[in-house]
Amino acid sequence: MDDRLKEAFRKIYEGEAKAALRLKLFAKKAEQEDLPQIAQLFRVIAFSEEIHGERALRMLREIKDTDTNLKESFQSETSIAGVAYDRFVELAGEIGDGIASNIFSNSKDVEDGHAKLYKHAINHLIGERETTYYVCQVCGYVSDGVCPESCPVCSAPKDLFVEFK
Ligand SMILES: [Fe+2]
Ligand SMILES: [Fe+2]
Repeated sequence: MDDRLKEAFRKIYEGEAKAALRLKLFAKKAEQEDLPQIAQLFRVIAFSEEIHGERALRMLREIKDTDTNLKESFQSETSIAGVAYDRFVELAGEIGDGIASNIFSNSKDVEDGHAKLYKHAINHLIGERETTYYVCQVCGYVSDGVCPESCPVCSAPKDLFVEFK
């Protein structure tokens, strides 16, 4: 594909993915404000934006077979966890922003966990095994199989975990 088209699709993918996340959060907010119709509108547009992002990503040929997808996901987790967050934690320390520092280091710990989950899958340790995952809604920590009493990363209580069967 022409490099300029590639660049266009990359921009579309990034822009639409960001828009979709933002709109989903707007929908949550509208729900809290008891505005279900507006929440629905935000969710619908978010879904539509995701379709644009999906088309762009497909054009970029970034969706491969599952074995490759797992390996690439593992790679990107290790680089996110190993490079960016470490630097961000350092930066927040220099600036003296405790809240930012906490968010960065929580995310870094959670990303390390993602890498382990992929590694597990790559080593064919999940195949036929059925499990339930639990995700902390505060920091994103993923627990495989058991819901912890409190989040080992951010200390959020058990009832803030979402179950994925
Ligand atoms: Fe991750
Ligand atoms: Fe957490």
